[in-house]
Amino acid sequence: MLSFRLQKIKAAINPGADLVWDLCCDHGILGKSLLDDGKEVFFVDQVSHIINHLVDDLAASTSKYTCIVSDAAEINIKNKVSETVVIAGVGGFTCKNILEALITKYGYLKSEFVLSPQKNLPMIYEYLRVNQFNIISEDIFEDNKKLYHVLKIRQRAKS
Ligand SMILES: C[S@@+](CC[C@H](N)C(=O)[O-])C[C@H]1O[C@@H](n2cnc3c(N)ncnc32)[C@H](O)[C@@H]1O
Repeated sequence: MLSFRLQKIKAAINPGADLVWDLCCDHGILGKSLLDDGKEVFFVDQVSHIINHLVDDLAASTSKYTCIVSDAAEINIKNKVSETVVIAGVGGFTCKNILEALITKYGYLKSEFVLSPQKNLPMIYEYLRVNQFNIISEDIFEDNKKLYHVLKIRQRAKS
């Protein structure tokens, strides 16, 4: 059963996405729920024992998934329109560093992103503005007496 917070993050993922990246996935609770819905999921976390545990956990699964131990700022996404990249449960600077690394790598980002930074929101809004991201939707809610933001964003195509 997903927490209210993870339900809200999941609700922001485009139902048409064929591939979802669960970056900074920890136990991969969100990604596992997406596998159950038939999505292909890439799980990424920088802590190897977390990913090793996930690999064991998913061993019997017939779903399409990939588990990667890496700093999420170093991954190669597909950079395609039908992909959603989720970065949740980390600070705003981690979200920004990951976006920055992807922009450096690909220039223009075609993928949709769902961000849920735990702090540094003003910095993130400014970063998104300067880097020409549209905020498609924004959800602000309370769960367990904490306030959360979930931003669905996509970079504007360069003209
Ligand atoms: C609090 S958990 C969030 C889990 C899940 N995303 C959620 O929202 O419930 C934070 C996880 O992010 C991972 N993490 C933090 N910085 C990272 C980075 N730069 N690259 C990959 N994983 C990272 C940590 O190892 C930890 O497992």
